[in-house]
Amino acid sequence: MVQLSPQPGDLEPIETASVDELRSLQLQRLQWTVAQAYENVLHYRAAFDAAGLVPDDVTSLDDLAKLPLTTKADLRDNYPFGMFAVPREQVARVHASSGTTGRPTVVGYTRDDLEVWATVIARSIRAAGGRAGDILHNAYGYGLFTGGLGIHGGAEKLGCTVVPVSGGMTERQVQLITDFRPDIITVTPSYMLAIVDELERQGIDPRSTSLKVGIFGAEPWTDDMRAELEQRLDLHAVDIYGLSEVIGPGVASECVETKDGLHIWEDHFYPEIIDPVTHQVLPDGEEGELVITSLTKQAMPVIRYRTRDLTRLLPGTARTMRRIEKITGRTDDMIILRGVNLFPTQIEELILSLEQLSPHFQCVLARTGTLDEMTVRVERRADVADAAGPDARDQLGRLIKNRIGVSVAVEVVDPGTIERSMGKMRRIVDHRPPRGVTT
Ligand code: DLL
Repeated sequence: MVQLSPQPGDLEPIETASVDELRSLQLQRLQWTVAQAYENVLHYRAAFDAAGLVPDDVTSLDDLAKLPLTTKADLRDNYPFGMFAVPREQVARVHASSGTTGRPTVVGYTRDDLEVWATVIARSIRAAGGRAGDILHNAYGYGLFTGGLGIHGGAEKLGCTVVPVSGGMTERQVQLITDFRPDIITVTPSYMLAIVDELERQGIDPRSTSLKVGIFGAEPWTDDMRAELEQRLDLHAVDIYGLSEVIGPGVASECVETKDGLHIWEDHFYPEIIDPVTHQVLPDGEEGELVITSLTKQAMPVIRYRTRDLTRLLPGTARTMRRIEKITGRTDDMIILRGVNLFPTQIEELILSLEQLSPHFQCVLARTGTLDEMTVRVERRADVADAAGPDARDQLGRLIKNRIGVSVAVEVVDPGTIERSMGKMRRIVDHRPPRGVTT
């Protein structure tokens, strides 16, 4: 892998500013945001009034903890444009996330917001080792999803040559990678695996492509998956995080020289970690739910937005700004199996520790009588004989039992059996009837 590290002058001054400087900028921006939301969004005014608070009560960053939390339900209740803090005419673009049920969540951006978004994406690509002049193959989906257009704007701002491929048509992805010789690919890690499989199917060694950096996000993935992608593709695999409600991709990103968690771009997004049950703010270092307050957004400021993502806040390393540890999973993706809590990322880690198994897997949930059961369906690697299946099945079952503490069924299936995603992979397939209904 080529060595990549920033040179003096590559970074924006704020990326290496002192913590004091950063905190004072954050307080000033927080006060502006709170006033803007209170004055212009009925939802925030009502929530502040109910809590007996006014914007002037925020005199320090610690005061943030007094403010009410905001949830996805609040955004849904104000569908489509009720959370906007500027007249609709000033909204230059909307995006939306579909969610699993009901109405989509709509988010809006002013021209200035789009500029901020492009800035944090350009910063993220730079942190990953990208530079002006690089060719960037963008395989995140274009459209209402924030991945495609979000990365696009930032890559152009940085000065990259952007190839706006979007997701899908895997054969064409391979052709464009071979013909255009991109330096960087931006895509979900699960779809990257599908592209790697297609490269191999066409007889192209994935390590021989021009790609130097992969900027992977939009779904949870582990350090073991990083090792898998780096080994198979001979590139730097770097994590990018974000969510539509806060801006889209580019809320936090990893630096290629450290790959030790994602720096939150704290000049625009203020992080807190709360206990998801008691809502108490937890000290840095403790695991809980990430809550984010936007500091500069005009069209749709968010105050203490509950992301549902589980992680910890860690001190800065390559940059002054704090880091989040790789996301373990979402509170809504936590599987509770006969009293044991587990996440698909834990299963991914164990699967990748066995050389017979590929990273293509799903957790299938079913209920017999009153008992929940889980089957891990996982593909064996293409170069592994069919006969290795039973052995790998028993080993994985034992590992899950010993490490996570629950018995599950394991089914080792042929390569290509599990449905591939073009974007976010569905790791959990839940066939259980709603609680109270037994089969
Ligand atoms: O997934 C934005 C995005 C696009 C991020 C491209 C990175 C790259 P949403 O569709 O609103 O936005 O989904 C947001 O996806 O709350 C997390 O649960 C999950 N997620 C996003 N990035 C990561 C990541 C985009 N790096 C939701 N690791 C978030 C783990 C992630 N989970």
